[in-house]
Amino acid sequence: MSTPPATIRLHELRFRPFLTEERIKQRVEELGKTLSERLGNEEVTFVVMLKGAYIFAADLMRASGLGGEVCFVRTSSYSGTESAGRVNLILAPEPDLIRDRDIVLVEDIVDSGLTMQAFLPILEDLGPRSITLVTLLHKPEAQRVDVPIDLVGFTIPTKFVVGYGLDYDGLGRQLPAIYQLDESY
Ligand code: IMP
Repeated sequence: MSTPPATIRLHELRFRPFLTEERIKQRVEELGKTLSERLGNEEVTFVVMLKGAYIFAADLMRASGLGGEVCFVRTSSYSGTESAGRVNLILAPEPDLIRDRDIVLVEDIVDSGLTMQAFLPILEDLGPRSITLVTLLHKPEAQRVDVPIDLVGFTIPTKFVVGYGLDYDGLGRQLPAIYQLDESY
């Protein structure tokens, strides 16, 4: 694994190393194991929240060893580093992949909780057998509404982060580690 740079610059902001590639990998392995213990040999549907969760979901699916379908959902609510507070559904889940299935809902980060608060009822209306919500990151101090999270990778402070699929205005998704906004600049 490559040595991460000390700080990185994306647009006008600087970010410092926060979660290494190794820590993420180890935690994703643990989450995958827990998921396979909970869901056994069921054929599940991984519902992946685009765009931020696609890298996490790919690693989690392989770490769990669970077979089944994958389905992508896209909402929008963010502008820059602040939640815009509204959630639009841009890409909806395919109903046939949800009905009567065990769903692993994969999110990159629960921040205000508004995205999950808006999306969970839409998913429930499609009649899944169960929903297991897994989020790689959780910012509990930023949370404004209750969200029934089943598994959390890392609980983190209320600071903007990038990398491992998460971006800052289109930059940083490719980074193998996670970086945190450095406000000292
Ligand atoms: P929420 O609706 O405020 O919970 O935010 C959910 C979505 O906002 C996540 O799926 C992310 O795409 C985005 N988001 C929230 N915090 C961050 C962050 O620190 N970095 C990058 N994206 C974030």
